[in-house]
Amino acid sequence: MPEREELCTIAWERETGSIVYIDQTLLPGRCEQMRCTTVEDLARAIRRLEVRGAPALGIAGAMGVALAAVRSTEADLGRFLADVGRAADLLRSTRPTAVNLAWGIDRVARKVAMAASVVEAKALAVAEANAVAEEDELTCRRLGAFGEELFPTACTALTHCNAGALACRCWGTALGVIRSAVAAGKDVRVIACETRPLNQGSRLTCWELARDGIDVTLIPDSSAAYLMRKGAIDLVIVGADRITKDAVFNKIGTYMHAVAARHHGIPFYVAAPLSTFDLARTESEITVEERDRAELAYCGDRQLAPDSVNVLNYAFDATPLDLVDAIITEIGVLRPPYSESFRLVGNPAHRRGQGA
Ligand code: MRU
Repeated sequence: MPEREELCTIAWERETGSIVYIDQTLLPGRCEQMRCTTVEDLARAIRRLEVRGAPALGIAGAMGVALAAVRSTEADLGRFLADVGRAADLLRSTRPTAVNLAWGIDRVARKVAMAASVVEAKALAVAEANAVAEEDELTCRRLGAFGEELFPTACTALTHCNAGALACRCWGTALGVIRSAVAAGKDVRVIACETRPLNQGSRLTCWELARDGIDVTLIPDSSAAYLMRKGAIDLVIVGADRITKDAVFNKIGTYMHAVAARHHGIPFYVAAPLSTFDLARTESEITVEERDRAELAYCGDRQLAPDSVNVLNYAFDATPLDLVDAIITEIGVLRPPYSESFRLVGNPAHRRGQGA
């Protein structure tokens, strides 16, 4: 298969002072770039999952603060900072679970707060937002190189949701590890769970892997355990939206794969950058996003459930760390006991350049 141009999910457009991104709700039918010129537009795009995936949300948050800074017409520094603060609050309120969003927002907001003038604040905001995006690519490549060493020379990997180029700036976390393993000459086949109800697996993971010529097979979420029992899966690898002291938050359905993997003696790996770690908190302190009933009760115009029925539509779940065999990061592979290996994450030396 001929090499395809690498995807770039989200970028700052210097000429127009705006954010350009691939609208993921249109995939796999159409791959179209959209432009955001206001923070309100960006907030809407995040809520609609046009931009999604934890690291991409981190970049979107960072660029959103830069957008607010660049577009503010306030000449007075105090009023300018108030403008930027309101934009940061709006962006922060869009999705509660992926910690990267707040991380990206805070990182640029901190730079803005250091400026001595409005002009300086605008320049610092754009530079920092671009740094967040550029580091994300580097982080994914590093993480991929560490993670691919866990893959046997020939294997079938199950993944859930989309932790790929589309969830980051490019390359990906879980799919980045898969890409790195393929690039290292390994024979990797991917089983992609469809990821009901919004189908990030079938729409996005299948699209981006097929585009790269990586062997991918789509399954309904509900057949994962049966395939494990049949010996058809060698390992599970997923991304993460937040890693607390005691759990990994990721797309709803991840936990059931972890339970099934442990039952069948299959390794369960998580790939995530340090910006996804939130080690000051525990599972019980985290808000898990609940989404609209229509996502389950309808498929397009077709009604799938009676109007009278209650719907519970959690977007994420939490997998306790004792089900996780390794967490792959840009500083290396963390293994249990995590109470010890997490000390590396807390080491500021490793977080330099990450704004932490
Ligand atoms: O609701 P989404 O599509 O934003 O959920 C995304 C996921 O759950 C991903 O697995 C996670 O963000 C990791 S992305 C590298």
